[in-house]
Amino acid sequence: MNTRTNHLLATVLSTVLLTAAFIAASPITASAQHHRAHPGYPATPDADGRHVNAHGGCVIAHDGQWLWYGEARPERGFTSLGVSLYTAPMTENTPATLSSLCWKSHGVVLSVVDDTASLIQRGCIIERPKVMWNARTRQFVMLFHLELKGRGYEAALTGFATSPTPEGPFTFHHAQRPNAGVWPADFSNEDIAKAKRLSVSDYPEWWTPEWRVAVADGLLLNRDMEQGQMSRDMTVFVDDDGTAWHIFSSEENLTLQAAELTPDYLGYTGRYYRIAPGGQNEAPCIFKRDGRYWLICSGCTGWDPNEARLFSSFDIRGPWTQHPSPMRGQGARRTFGGQGTWIWQQSALQSIYFMADVWNPRSLAASRHLCLPVTFDADGFPVVNGPQ
Ligand code: GAL
Repeated sequence: MNTRTNHLLATVLSTVLLTAAFIAASPITASAQHHRAHPGYPATPDADGRHVNAHGGCVIAHDGQWLWYGEARPERGFTSLGVSLYTAPMTENTPATLSSLCWKSHGVVLSVVDDTASLIQRGCIIERPKVMWNARTRQFVMLFHLELKGRGYEAALTGFATSPTPEGPFTFHHAQRPNAGVWPADFSNEDIAKAKRLSVSDYPEWWTPEWRVAVADGLLLNRDMEQGQMSRDMTVFVDDDGTAWHIFSSEENLTLQAAELTPDYLGYTGRYYRIAPGGQNEAPCIFKRDGRYWLICSGCTGWDPNEARLFSSFDIRGPWTQHPSPMRGQGARRTFGGQGTWIWQQSALQSIYFMADVWNPRSLAASRHLCLPVTFDADGFPVVNGPQ
């Protein structure tokens, strides 16, 4: 059984046990349960007073508006309703936070469907949607992590959807595993030959020193060469030259990959690079400041929070250097209960925020949002202080 399955089982089991104990102890209403699950973190009300149901999301600027896309989750269960959109007018001269704006709900802009032949049929899982405006094709392009109905987290696909307008409805374009048949761009012929000799059947036991070396050398890259690389937790980044990158947890969540997207953002060029092989990083969030790329990730503990990781590089293709977590203050060791989803750069104001989800697996829809300013220390390293 792999770690993902272990995490899922542990999460499901603890959720069932906790929920049973909770209900037995006090027969209370659903909203009171949500409140108890998040002491200290209030809901983020939209313009109608409903908690914003957009998780694992992103906020982008468009035409004087902030567009907040995220996972639309049901009150109960782990499947998806699709991707929701909330908008708010951009404020001048004042940095905005998620809770300072009045968010108008536009409902679900990419919806799961009832067609059982569709890859996004009801019962599938859509996570971490990220949206980019493509000026060449004049389309909003959405990438997301897609898992197929009834197959847990094994499909590990990237979904693509487009819309000419921000409000959609977005049209599902296709889903795929990235970069089938292609080795990382910085692999030499020797690296490729070495990886090709690695077979998972020679490493039945995980976490041994030999297995770790084999993973770093491309054991799982080789395993997935034909069908394409796994892609789960993910983000996107459009660089100053207009090149778009998709950064995702691959190789059984052990290794991140940064893959260049085609100019229409609807596929891969085949140029991709690995980040921290074997490092078990999830929830990648990236930004660029003064020519330096910063990547904030989480570890792999499912819905439970863990300590954030920080990496930097002067080239998105690497090499990346790991630094201590940028989180400071009470609760920093568990990222204040959250897991990163997006770096919200308000460029006109030079304000940068770290957005995170405080997951509530009993009711994913009720998961809370954190939006914390990123400041910089004397050496130019990012610092994120806990919620006040
Ligand atoms: C987290 C991941 C979430 C979701 C969850 C499922 O680690 O960041 O997006 O996939 O696991 O257990």
